[in-house]
Amino acid sequence: MAKKSETDETALQHLLLDWFTRQRRDLPWRRTQDPYAIWVSEIMLQQTRVAAVLEPYRTFLERFPTVQALASAEEAAVLAAWSGLGYYRRARMLHRAAQQICSSGNGRIPLSHAALLELPGIGRYTAAAIASIAYGEPVAAVDGNVERVLLRLRGWGSEDPVLHAQHLRRVQQEAARLLQPASPGDWNQAMMELGATVCLPRAPRCEACPWMAGCATRGEHDAVRRPPMRTEIRNYRWQTRLSDGVEQLLLIQRSQAQTVMPGMWELPPVPDTPGKPDELDKPDEQNKPILKLRHAIMQVNYRIAILRGEGPAPADGRWVTAEEAATMALTGLARKVMRRLGWLPTGSRGPSSGNRP
Ligand code: ADE
Repeated sequence: MAKKSETDETALQHLLLDWFTRQRRDLPWRRTQDPYAIWVSEIMLQQTRVAAVLEPYRTFLERFPTVQALASAEEAAVLAAWSGLGYYRRARMLHRAAQQICSSGNGRIPLSHAALLELPGIGRYTAAAIASIAYGEPVAAVDGNVERVLLRLRGWGSEDPVLHAQHLRRVQQEAARLLQPASPGDWNQAMMELGATVCLPRAPRCEACPWMAGCATRGEHDAVRRPPMRTEIRNYRWQTRLSDGVEQLLLIQRSQAQTVMPGMWELPPVPDTPGKPDELDKPDEQNKPILKLRHAIMQVNYRIAILRGEGPAPADGRWVTAEEAATMALTGLARKVMRRLGWLPTGSRGPSSGNRP
């Protein structure tokens, strides 16, 4: 006989998929299997409501019907086609990813969740949505709506913010456990649909919910508080030299004892970093950054300045050519800086991408 938890899951799966079959909204990206069109829809739907996406989605695909058309467009044209949607960084990343696919790939959109994650602008949720909807890969897509549905279903309330990472892991595991592997694309969209139309943040419509009988909350609950983002400043040194006519860059290796990204290679940090975020906007003339950028990891927004360095290499430093650097386990930030400064080609991938925020 099946265990109780299995029968519970099976019952939940049937209830939700039956509900979705009856209630699913007829949306344009649900009428296609084209991974490019599905990808565009998922990027547009980040931070934007379905109703606001419908028209820009139609005109964007008319203007750029294929990944090749998008890759060969000027950035200004892509941004113009994105107008009205806001958050233009999404459009820039989409464009960059299309160029990456067409220059370093074979012009085909990557086929798996893991490969999609390598593209700019595609995080865990978006990769899971595309892989499940376009390719039927059984990976759970957990966005804010889905997280809320699961919290209420299981009665998991607000938690100590320190435990936020553990909380996210638990929600992701529960989503993976409930996922209906035979139709993961429909399953993920049913979860999103339930969160967007029934299990609303305020005044949820429990009477319309297929899971009401088994729900541990039935109504509003204490949302999980996310720890606020902090801003921190970090300065790094950019030091190059010529060796036999070949340019080399100074990198250092993070110690194996570090809890974050142990053993990975990065630019040498510059100590005595100024403490306040606005100090970066007033650099002294001598030490003007050659590049300023932002980089988010977990709950921290880093404001980064890259300063030209000189002087002896530290003991743990190593001079590397661009060719060598491309094959090393670089931190995400180091790779980003090298690309921005034209030191690594934009499509280059290292052996490790595990530190992507
Ligand atoms: N939000 C994110 N992805 C979605 C999808 N595929 N359908 C509806 N809403 C969504």
